[in-house]
Amino acid sequence: MKIGILGTGVVAQTIAEKLVSLGHQVMVGTRDKQATLAKTGKDNFGRPPVSEWLANNSAINLGSCSDAASFGEFLVNATNGFGTLPALEAAGRENIDGKILLDISNPLDFSKGMPPSLFVSNTDSLAEQIQRKYPAVKVVKSLNTVTASIMVNPSLLNEPTNIFLNGNDADAKLKVKELLKSFGWIDEDIIDMGDITTARGTEQYLPLWVRLWGVLQTPAFNIKIVRGKI
Ligand SMILES: NC(=O)c1ccc[n+]([C@@H]2O[C@H](COP(=O)([O-])OP(=O)(O)OC[C@H]3O[C@@H](n4cnc5c(N)ncnc54)[C@H](OP(=O)(O)O)[C@@H]3O)[C@@H](O)[C@H]2O)c1
Repeated sequence: MKIGILGTGVVAQTIAEKLVSLGHQVMVGTRDKQATLAKTGKDNFGRPPVSEWLANNSAINLGSCSDAASFGEFLVNATNGFGTLPALEAAGRENIDGKILLDISNPLDFSKGMPPSLFVSNTDSLAEQIQRKYPAVKVVKSLNTVTASIMVNPSLLNEPTNIFLNGNDADAKLKVKELLKSFGWIDEDIIDMGDITTARGTEQYLPLWVRLWGVLQTPAFNIKIVRGKI
């Protein structure tokens, strides 16, 4: 499948590498291709500059947000929360309408330091903001509740854990589910939460996630839903 990814950070790179390893064709989209290619030094996650990453991953192409969106028959949003709506604007409605958008973003606001707050919550979510602005896009929120390496390799954890789907379009959720299964997620561990408003729950898990990260001193964890009888 031809997949366009918006963003060039650790999530975009991790997902892109996995997709290529699974035989997909991938283009990642950036705001300013020249500026992105001119970056030097490692990023906050210790990853090499984008130019070096591309040189090491020659099957992955870099384009503008609109290049990546028009290239992809299936799209992934891996942009910063504040950058999500601007990135989709740059992608162009004509290039995203009718397509599935796997939305991995979180509405995190680091402007007042750690821990971050959510810039949309309670009665709304970033996923809903996307869906409202682009009603013809099939937005499916998923993978935003785990760190990048776990997204594409859940077996890095010591036992099976859960991942969630939020979205209005049942068929789009099934297609995202198939993709998650190809990443290693187990069918029964993928919980379909319901329509796009349920993304309020998965986005609002982040305040707990960042505090667990602080306490555990590692992002290599996830939650497991344990059922019982009462
Ligand atoms: N890091 C994780 O493990 C993790 C886990 C779960 C969810 N998430 C979520 O996944 C998303 C990506 O996270 P990340 O850590 O890979 O990277 P990030 O540092 O949050 O940013 C990713 C990309 O956002 C783009 N961007 C930033 N501001 C923008 C703007 N105003 N307009 C358009 N694009 C903009 C940048 O692309 P260019 O500079 O190339 O234009 C950048 O590469 C975030 O929403 C994050 O909360 C991350």
